[in-house]
Amino acid sequence: MSSRIIELLEQGQGHYVSGEQLSKELGISRTAIWKQIKKLEALGYHFEASRKLGYRIVSKPSKLQLNELIEKMKGSSFVQGIKLYETVESTQNIAQQLAENDAPEGTLVLAEQQTSGRGRRGRQWLSPYGSSVSMSFILRPSLPLQFAPQMTLVAAVALCRGLRELTGLDIGIKWPNDLLINGKKISGILMESTAEDERIRYIIAGIGIGVNLLESDYPDELRKVATSLSLEMGQQLNRSDVIAAFITHFGELYSLYLQEGFSPIISLWEALSVTLHKQTLLTTAEGIVEGIPIGLCDSGALSVRKTDGTVIAVFSADSIIPVQG
Ligand code: BTN
Repeated sequence: MSSRIIELLEQGQGHYVSGEQLSKELGISRTAIWKQIKKLEALGYHFEASRKLGYRIVSKPSKLQLNELIEKMKGSSFVQGIKLYETVESTQNIAQQLAENDAPEGTLVLAEQQTSGRGRRGRQWLSPYGSSVSMSFILRPSLPLQFAPQMTLVAAVALCRGLRELTGLDIGIKWPNDLLINGKKISGILMESTAEDERIRYIIAGIGIGVNLLESDYPDELRKVATSLSLEMGQQLNRSDVIAAFITHFGELYSLYLQEGFSPIISLWEALSVTLHKQTLLTTAEGIVEGIPIGLCDSGALSVRKTDGTVIAVFSADSIIPVQG
């Protein structure tokens, strides 16, 4: 039924096709047409609807093509295998099952849509069909568990460098790993570690990027604080380019990290940070801290000079808000 609607709208070649005409051709009510339109929107189609004129297609979902992606990632030896799904609860779960079944480091899981995408601190993560990047991959660094937070910052630097290079946008990192454009979030990173005897067995690195989301894709509460690359650039992007840009940078930085340790990553992170050198309020588990973040510690914690001059390490914060003035 819904494919017939697409067929009829495509015959309209970008012009409106009336609800009446659609309902006549398909032999169903106008309410039933509207329900089919809603189903198609959930699959990544975007329509313009007018009470008077009917419906017209604004954009169609473009699916990830495995061959194209492999071709674009040819320069990087990091990826050892790719699993591409249509709809999953969370790519994190699939990658974790694969890791438990001995899949190697560099196994990449991608999905067109997640129904229960998860963010940090138990938050939900929005991954509508065909317009975002939802990927998880397996890391198996032979390191003590205490080094795991550093990996988040390696991924943040790789993502920021990759996206800046691809889009030319002024993207910065808010500690520890949110990427922001003009104060709005465009991506998130979630690292889930499994350890044995205090050593890392594997890490599932999850990356979500708002690539081609439209304003209407965001619920009201997110519209003010989140954006997509296409909204910022005024044009749609090929998601394979976005994935390849990240993977290429991540492969390089991960090797650098394994060979030379965390210090080169600290300098790169600090150069891209939008958190440092501003008077800031941090809400931490120990209470509110006011001060100026001055750099990253070796542990990946944020080094903050408090108003009384003492310097403390902040390991996690619910919110980090620059103080105006
Ligand atoms: C955050 O900023 O809170 C982190 C968001 C991480 C989202 C990604 S999307 C791919 C992977 N699968 C998930 O369920 N979450 C991560």
